[in-house]
Amino acid sequence: MSDDGSKTAGLFLIFVVSILFLILSLVNYQFIVLMVISLIIGLVLLLSSGEKAQRETSESTTWRTVSPSASRPNHRSASNTKSSFNYEPSDILLNGRYQTENRLKKGGMAIITLATDIETGSFCVIKTPRYDTAHGADINVEKLTLEAAFLRQIDHPNIVKYLDLFMHDNVLHLVEEYVEGDNLFDVFRIKPAEESRVLKWGGQLLDVLEHMHRRGLIHRDVNPGNIMLKPNDDVVVIDFGTAKTSAGEGSTVVKTPGFEVPEQVATGYADERSDLFGAGGTLFYLLTSEPPGAIGNRNVAQLLLSEGVSNRTARCIAQALQMDAGLRFQSAAAMRRALCGERA
Ligand SMILES: Nc1ncnc2c1ncn2[C@@H]1O[C@H](COP(=O)(O)OP(=O)(O)OP(=O)(O)O)[C@@H](O)[C@H]1O
Ligand SMILES: [Mg+2]
Repeated sequence: MSDDGSKTAGLFLIFVVSILFLILSLVNYQFIVLMVISLIIGLVLLLSSGEKAQRETSESTTWRTVSPSASRPNHRSASNTKSSFNYEPSDILLNGRYQTENRLKKGGMAIITLATDIETGSFCVIKTPRYDTAHGADINVEKLTLEAAFLRQIDHPNIVKYLDLFMHDNVLHLVEEYVEGDNLFDVFRIKPAEESRVLKWGGQLLDVLEHMHRRGLIHRDVNPGNIMLKPNDDVVVIDFGTAKTSAGEGSTVVKTPGFEVPEQVATGYADERSDLFGAGGTLFYLLTSEPPGAIGNRNVAQLLLSEGVSNRTARCIAQALQMDAGLRFQSAAAMRRALCGERA
């Protein structure tokens, strides 16, 4: 029997016993005392069940406010219970608006936590700087501040959207659009993608780079780990923490293992063509599941052709991956036209 059922049965029994004592008190008045006692027991039982029901209602109300209208993302496997996740932080209301859910990733400089914006009922992502990296937290805070500043200036369908920036417990919190899906590096780690899809994503990526370069912004860390693949098969560029506002040497050298840009490693210098090398490396990875760093002395175009990639795509990627920036495409628009077969 359910809790509610046994409580109702108990109350009914006390009611019957009380009536019995009332009838008996007509014969002997001392039964009145027993009737009062059974009535008090019934009253206490009634009040305690009312209190419990109220508690349960308020608990489910709290859950409803944090539960978004959108379908929950599938980061939790069916066998996981909420408490078995490594929440950092867990179920905390930040800035009076963002209810933390679970940690999505630990990046090189930031912790990425899924949250619900309780004002809109939508998911969002909160990026906080890591305080446990060998290079110290200051650089991470600086990168996050820069990322917020860059994202605030940009609005593009294939670039992650800036939502908010605030301090909580003296820690900087950047709120971004939640991009459902996984990054391209994780998705194509084992099996390469089909060329037609790679060309479509290449077009979207080069459109993003053209948009940024026109505004004088250089991403400096274009690689498949910084591009998300959405369920609708579009890509979204993330991670603007190491972007720069002009060509030249940066205060930090950006080198993602396997995707290092030659001039950035050599001198720290980066310009638009450095991002095009990153784009070429990303396309190479998508078609082979190998980072460009693994090419060594092999011929890029030959390698791609032997994988069944078309001549035009192979030549295009080989040009983007030239060590000498002068031999690469000189603009994102030129590379997009060559890759996608568009006319100037
Ligand atoms: N807005 C987002 N929506 C969904 N997932 C995200 C989002 N931002 C980041 N992620 C996830 O977290 C990972 C790391 O994010 P990001 O690259 O921004 O962090 P980082 O610390 O700057 O990274 P890095 O390791 O490149 O230094 C991404 O590859 C992606 O899987
Ligand atoms: Mg990254």
